[in-house]
Amino acid sequence: MSRIFITGGTGYLGSALVRQASAAGHAVAASYFSHEPPAREGVTWAPLDVRDPLAVEDCLDRLRPDLVIHTAFIQTGPDVMPVTARGTGHVARAAAAVGARLIHMSSDVIFDGEREGPYSEVDPPAPISDYGLAKARAEALVAEAHPGAAIVRTSLIYGFDPIDKISRFSLDVAEGRTAAVLFTDEYRCPIYVEDLAAALLELAGLSYGGILNIAGAERVSRYELGSLIAQAWGVDPAGIPAGLSTESPSRRPRNCTLDITRAQALLQTRLRGIREVLRATGRQGK
Ligand SMILES: NC(=O)c1ccc[n+]([C@@H]2O[C@H](COP(=O)([O-])OP(=O)(O)OC[C@H]3O[C@@H](n4cnc5c(N)ncnc54)[C@H](OP(=O)(O)O)[C@@H]3O)[C@@H](O)[C@H]2O)c1
Repeated sequence: MSRIFITGGTGYLGSALVRQASAAGHAVAASYFSHEPPAREGVTWAPLDVRDPLAVEDCLDRLRPDLVIHTAFIQTGPDVMPVTARGTGHVARAAAAVGARLIHMSSDVIFDGEREGPYSEVDPPAPISDYGLAKARAEALVAEAHPGAAIVRTSLIYGFDPIDKISRFSLDVAEGRTAAVLFTDEYRCPIYVEDLAAALLELAGLSYGGILNIAGAERVSRYELGSLIAQAWGVDPAGIPAGLSTESPSRRPRNCTLDITRAQALLQTRLRGIREVLRATGRQGK
C-alpha cells in the first residue's frame, strides 16, 4: 500500500483514479478546487489552488505522499498558463521536495498535428493552441524540477459511468441539441478512462521516468468517434454532420496519433482501442 495524492481528484480522470486507487487499498488523498466532493471512506480531500506555490508546498508537506498523480488543469481562459503550466511547476517542485514519485498528465495537443504518421516519445512539442502551449510548458517545468518524473501524453479520455464531456458533446450533436460538425480528417487515439487509470497506477509502481505515450490502441477521426459513441448510447449517428478540420476557421492539430509501442511493452494493462472497449462493455451499438 502506498500514500497516493491525486491533484484534480474531482475531475474526470481524477475521479477514476481515486476510485481505483482506493479499491486497490492505497491510502488516497486528492485535491479539489471549485467542487467540494462528498466525503468518501478512505479518501482524504484537500482544497487546493495549484496557482499558489506555498499552498501546494504546505499540502504536500502535510500529506507526505509516496506518489503524486497530477491531473489538475484548465483548458481555456486567461488562467491557462498560471494553472496548467506554472501550477504544474509548483506541484513538481513540491513533489520533489518531499521525495514523492510524480506522474504528470500531458496531452497529445502539444503537437501541431501536421505529420501523417504517429508521434513517439522522442518527438518534441510543437503546440498551436494556448492549451497546447501551456501543456508543453508544463512538461518542461516538470522535467526541470523533477527529472525522475513520468510525463504521460494521452489522448481523448472517454467513459460511461459517468459519461465524459466528449461523449456528451457527440450525443448533443447527434441529437441536434448542439450545432457543430465532427471532423473526418482530425485523428486521435481515445482511451477508456478505466484503462488509463489502471495504466497510471501500474506505472506508479515502476521506476520509469521521462515521457510515455499512453493512449488507446485505435486511431479514429472525430467523426468516427462521435458515431461510435452515439451508437454506444443507442443514438442514431446519421444526425452527425461531417466536416473537415482543414476547413475550420481556427487552426487545429489534425493528426495527433500517438505511438504507444513503448507503453504496450512496459505495462501489463491493455490499452484497448475504442471498438474493443465497446465490444467488451456490451456497447458496440446495433
Ligand atoms: N479529458 C481529455 O480528453 C484529456 C485529453 C488529453 C489530456 N488530458 C489531461 O488529463 C488530465 C485530466 O483531464 P480531465 O479531463 O480528467 O480533467 P477535468 O475533468 O477537467 O478536471 C480538472 C481538475 O482540475 C481541477 N482544477 C481546476 N483548476 C484548478 C486549480 N486552479 N487548482 C487546482 N485544481 C484545479 C478541477 O477541480 P474542481 O473540479 O474541484 O474545480 C478538476 O478536479 C489533464 O491534465 C488534461 O490535460 C485530458
